[in-house]
Amino acid sequence: MKIRRIQPQDRPGLKTLLHAQSHFRPEEIRVALELIDIALAQPGEEDYMILCAEGGDGTVQGYICFGKAPLTEAVYDIYWIVVHPAYWGQGTGSSLLRQAEDEMARRQARLLLIETSSTFPYDLARAFYGKHGYREQARVLDYYRPEDHKIIYGKKLR
Ligand SMILES: CC(C)(COP(=O)(O)OP(=O)(O)OC[C@H]1O[C@@H](n2cnc3c(N)ncnc32)[C@H](O)[C@@H]1OP(=O)(O)O)[C@@H](O)C(=O)NCCC(=O)NCCS
Repeated sequence: MKIRRIQPQDRPGLKTLLHAQSHFRPEEIRVALELIDIALAQPGEEDYMILCAEGGDGTVQGYICFGKAPLTEAVYDIYWIVVHPAYWGQGTGSSLLRQAEDEMARRQARLLLIETSSTFPYDLARAFYGKHGYREQARVLDYYRPEDHKIIYGKKLR
């Protein structure tokens, strides 16, 4: 498996892997695809950068999308990290996150933020962030829906 920048031919595979996430709602998939299209249209831009994990057979197993938070001094948002369920728990997400963190560190990132839901389908994602040193910074109650809180995780790089 190798981690590399997104290429235009990745789009169909990325769409497939988003649809394979049974807990993603249609509007979440739509927004994720919009960011993929922006990243493809503006390669090298700081706003939305995407790294893909490619298996030995050329399949895209997962991706991470991140970018500089506008109007901040060196804060970066990680917008999405998604691995196809067929490859969960095999280290793909960790490789993507580590490589993205290296890239953000090269850009002098000071603080990394990730937002996620408090609900059950995101238990594994929250455990994953905790394992990688992200700590809860804030919680907005009933943000996505009643009883579905937004949790903001952060990790200081410097
Ligand atoms: C969160 C996610 C990206 C992690 O990717 P991954 O490739 O499974 O993660 P890794 O194999 O590198 O790391 C596994 C660790 O993450 C957690 N984890 C996440 N999903 C897991 C799974 N299905 N099985 C086992 N562990 C899982 C555990 O803490 C595990 O730690 P451990 O190995 O010490 O037990 C992946 O589960 C995923 O795509 N989830 C659905 C998409 C999603 O909800 N993304 C978050 C949007 S905010």
